[in-house]
Order: sequence, then structure tokens, then C-alpha cells
Amino acid sequence: MAERPNVALFVALLGLTSQEYAACVQQPLRPDRNIALEMIRVTEAAAIAAARWVGRGDKNAADGAAVDAMRFVLGGISMDGIVVIGEGEKDEAPMLYNGEYIGDGQPPQVDVAVDPVDGTSLTAAGRPGALAVIALSERGTMFNPGPCVYMKKVCVGPRARGSIDINASATDNLNEVSKRLKIPVQELGVVILDRPRHDELIEEVREAGSRVLLISDGDVAGAIATAWPSSGADVLFGIGGTPEGVIAAAALQGLGGEIQGILHPRDDDERRLAETLGYDFDRVLRNDDLVASDNCYFSATAITDGDFLRGVRFHDFGATTQSLVVRSRSGTVRTIETFHRHDKLQEFSTAGF
Ligand code: FBP
Repeated sequence: MAERPNVALFVALLGLTSQEYAACVQQPLRPDRNIALEMIRVTEAAAIAAARWVGRGDKNAADGAAVDAMRFVLGGISMDGIVVIGEGEKDEAPMLYNGEYIGDGQPPQVDVAVDPVDGTSLTAAGRPGALAVIALSERGTMFNPGPCVYMKKVCVGPRARGSIDINASATDNLNEVSKRLKIPVQELGVVILDRPRHDELIEEVREAGSRVLLISDGDVAGAIATAWPSSGADVLFGIGGTPEGVIAAAALQGLGGEIQGILHPRDDDERRLAETLGYDFDRVLRNDDLVASDNCYFSATAITDGDFLRGVRFHDFGATTQSLVVRSRSGTVRTIETFHRHDKLQEFSTAGF
């Protein structure tokens, strides 16, 4: 077969022999850009900004500070991003609104989901489990929650993948997960948001004999915990935010875990509106429906302490952060501790983090 002319010309210009050329092209592919590594700076900035509001009882101030810092750092990233999951519609969110274009317009073209603070109440109360998070995936691959605020979810880590069924009872799911993990049902840790709507679910899980790990907020961290070996959490059940479900899917995609979700309307009006827009309340949304790409990126920085990351610490010269950074294509999972010098941050930042 004839060589493509541009390759032949290129080889001739380089003065390579055909053997040298063959050796070159047989080299393994060099790793390409992992944009998640640039996203660490984005979530670090949001976490540091929000951390100044930890325990001060003002969740809106914490969220506002994180949004400002996140938007400021995101603006400097070379990408052509569109916010699919943001702070709401343009008229209610001046920054990081749904549909906002982010970056300098250069490739890659990506969908962006942000949650500058997942756990605004946790942050305001100084409780554990608050994260600053962002997820990116190839353009057009991220599920758009539209008007669907809530989703019923089941999440497990990599070892229990394939053993869950959101249409089965919690008891059946726990039995299957127990068989797969080869640990008794009584030893499973089950994360559930502490809400009245979960009273029956909590009762059922306790009846089954499993250990219920109630969280008051922050089910992105809860979902990740199921895929984090030392967290003590094996399963997450319950109804939480749909945006948080999509973000958790991006994280679990890289961590090897599984999520299943079913949209859960708050009332008939929401159901009618969503159905008009084509949303289906019977459909089981799996990892690939929520983020239909094997190339997605996730970064989270802890605002307060959690199961797998330590929250922001301030000290005389600055702050220390811990972040989790995941890329699904490579399956690389990094935890990164960063020392930030306040004087340096202030030199280039007007965002006040
Ligand atoms: P905020 O940080 O926006 O307050 O959301 C926290 C959170 O707990 C999510 O992690 C979760 O998905 C959702 O709220 C649950 O919603 P609700 O508080 O209405 O039950």
C-alpha cells in the first residue's frame, strides 16, 4: 500500500530512513492532555474561598465566594466549554449559569458541570463532607437535568459494579452487593441523606441489618465514598439532586464505580413540564446515560474534612488543600495536597480567595 503523501514528505524532510520512521511510529502513544489536572486549580480556588466561610452560618456567602473564585480561574483555561450544569438560569445566576461559554474558545470542546460548593449548609455549619467539584466531558455527552431537580440513586464502588438494580428493593440490592463483595449484609455501610422522605428506606436498610451512615447533605461525596476503599461506605441509596447525580457519574466513571438513577418529580407540574421536554420518569439512567463518554474528567477539593480528603487548613503563610482528580479514559486517580501561599495568590487574583 502506498504511503500517504504528507507522511512521505514529512519523513523525507526529517531525513529519516524507512526503518527509523517505522521505529518512530511504533512508539507507544504519548499521554495527551489531562485537563483534569488544570481543573484542580479551579476546585482549589473555590474550596479556599468557601473555606473562609466555614462555620459562619451564611451558606449563600460561602457559595457566592466559591462561584467567584471558580469562575475567575476557569476563565484562564484553554478550552471551549459550555456549562451544562451550573448555578441556574442566566437571569438568576450572573456567573456559571447554564449555557454560559467558558474558556478561550480553543479545543477541546467540552460540557462542564460545576458545583462550587456541594454542601452549602455543611460549610455554613462547619460540618464534614463539603466539596468544591467540577466535571468535564466531551461536547454533547453530559445529561442535562433541565427542570428535573431530584433523582433516585443507587451507587456502588468498582467491586460491586454489576450487582445493583434500582428497580429492585433495597433489601435485594444489599443481598446482591453482599454476595459480590463477599461480606455479610450486616457489615455493609449504606450512605443515605437524612431526610423525612427516606424514613421508610432507612427502616428497610436497618431491618436488613446493614449499617446506615446518615449524611445531612453532600451526596456527591457520599457517592464517591462508595468507591473509596477505606471510607466504610459500600452503597448509596436515596433521592438527591439530579445535577449532583451527573457529577457523581463523572467521578464514578473514572473510579470504576456504578450509578443508576431514575428522575423523581417534586410534583405534577414538574412532571408535566419535564415530560413535555422529553424527559422519561421510568427510564433507568446509567453511568453512560449520565455521562456518555469514556473521556470525562473530575476534580474535587475538600472544603471541610471528609471520608477521603481533608478540608482546607489555613496557616500563617497560606492554606493547604487536598483534592481528588480523576480521568475516566486512563482510570487515573490522584489525590493531591497543595500548599498555597497567600502572597502569591493575591498577586494574580482579584477573586479574593
Ligand atoms: P447544596 O450544597 O446545594 O445545598 O446541596 C447539597 C445537597 O445535599 C446535595 O448533595 C444533594 O444532592 C441535595 O442537596 C439534596 O437535596 P435536598 O437538600 O433538597 O434534599
